[in-house]
Amino acid sequence: MIKSLSLFSLLAGTATAWTSSLSMKADIPVASTTSSRRDLFAKGGAAVAAGLAAVTTIAPANAYEVPDLLYPFEALEPSIDAPTMKIHHDKHHATYVANLNKALEGKPQPPILDLMANALEAGPAVRNNGGGHYNHAFFWDEMTTPDKSKKTQVSKQLESAINKAFGSMDEMKKQFEARAAPGALFGSGWVWVVADNNGDLKLVGTPNQDNPLMKGVLDSIYFPILGLDVWEHAYYLKYQNRRPEYVSAWWNVVDWNKVSDNYDVVVKNHAGVPVRG
Ligand SMILES: [Fe+2]
Repeated sequence: MIKSLSLFSLLAGTATAWTSSLSMKADIPVASTTSSRRDLFAKGGAAVAAGLAAVTTIAPANAYEVPDLLYPFEALEPSIDAPTMKIHHDKHHATYVANLNKALEGKPQPPILDLMANALEAGPAVRNNGGGHYNHAFFWDEMTTPDKSKKTQVSKQLESAINKAFGSMDEMKKQFEARAAPGALFGSGWVWVVADNNGDLKLVGTPNQDNPLMKGVLDSIYFPILGLDVWEHAYYLKYQNRRPEYVSAWWNVVDWNKVSDNYDVVVKNHAGVPVRG
């Protein structure tokens, strides 16, 4: 029944049907190459036909997907080099997604925010690979080219929250860099600016692929609005052991429009930011 509804959704392409599909983490077969469910809708009938034609050789139904980057691999240079971006996105993120889908094969595949909330209960495969998927999908979309980054702006609402929590943007960056230093966050992990239920901001670090949305990782659930991957795979090709250099160069590719949007979303919804894929 779900399959036939989803097939109908593909053919009809109506908002209602799409919503139905999404709410079920749709059981639509997904092309394993470059076409996602989202792409099929965006590209219209021809893509739908192509997608249906590919049904015989596609990935398992209702799979999570690696979202395409919104920019070329070289777009973040010189802060993050193209080879690092390619390996990071195409290999590391893709492996998390493949392992997540494998871990959930034959089981319910809830919306990503629900998956994060219950990741610890779901066991290490979901915790590590689900976290790896969410964190990277979140990370790609908060970055843009250095030229565009300079033109992005912190919203008034976010600026006020930053001033309240840290005193100023410069102070927030300073504290963030200190939190991301190897001495403060030993080994692999992430540094986040998060909002609590009241919209108040704080800095936190999480180990491995954990994130603040997961119940049981921190003293409470928090909603990330900005996050930095400090695993060595995120910077080692260019920076080797110089993690602080990577962290300070990273500010040049942050998209503050997106971070401001993230803050709006978490304040309005009292929930995490959904990610693509
Ligand atoms: Fe990573």
